[in-house]
Amino acid sequence: MSMKKIIAETYEELSRETSQRIAMFIRENPDSLVCFAAGDTPLGTYSELVKMQAAGEVNLSDVYYAGLDEWIGLGENDKGSCYQVMHDHFYNPARIPKERIHVFDGLKDPQISCEQMNEWLAKRGKLGLTLLGIGMNGHLGFNEPNVPQASGAIIVPLDETTKTVSVKYFDKELPVSMGVTLGLSTLLAAREVLLIASGEKKAQLIRNTFNGTKNPANPASMLQGHPRLTLLLDREASGL
Ligand code: GLP
Repeated sequence: MSMKKIIAETYEELSRETSQRIAMFIRENPDSLVCFAAGDTPLGTYSELVKMQAAGEVNLSDVYYAGLDEWIGLGENDKGSCYQVMHDHFYNPARIPKERIHVFDGLKDPQISCEQMNEWLAKRGKLGLTLLGIGMNGHLGFNEPNVPQASGAIIVPLDETTKTVSVKYFDKELPVSMGVTLGLSTLLAAREVLLIASGEKKAQLIRNTFNGTKNPANPASMLQGHPRLTLLLDREASGL
């Protein structure tokens, strides 16, 4: 298998390792399209990237960005929406020009949202790099267990695990049941895939996911065999 595995001692080291790989990609591939996950795990990576830019080590506005996913019904003013997380932790502090970003708007008609994302993807070509997290059920973006592999943007009913975990992102009760996401085929077509995981709670999942067998019930396992896949773990997530 062509999978590379990087094990960092701490979350901070994991964030630095991941940000350095992304910065290298951006320096080598200006004007390509990248896609970064929201969620808690990559937040340290985003603050490292912003620091690297301030130190003159990378220009984060050299590439174009596509949103990965969004909770249908949530918008920029909802704490925990992918829009809010990505703008507050990355696009705004990194001062990425609006014209370089296209994200899902969970308040729009989801069908229209998907069409607009597909237009953006068609204009920018395949993903150059994607930074993904892994959900507790193995989901990538909102590609939930057993959702058929699809190209472009799709509407997906959320899995029970996702709904249960979702409360950690929100500051009030937000009943979410559907999501929009880039489909698995689009993610798998990325030239380079970074998958980041941190903490003991992900250790068993990581072990089950990368055991050599692809299983649609665990979408992240479908990454196995990707020609340029790097697994970035901290010591706790790699424990098993
Ligand atoms: C969320 C998002 C994913 C994210 C994953 C892991 O629900 N839909 O894009 O990568 O689950 O999140 P976390 O990093 O918070 O564990």
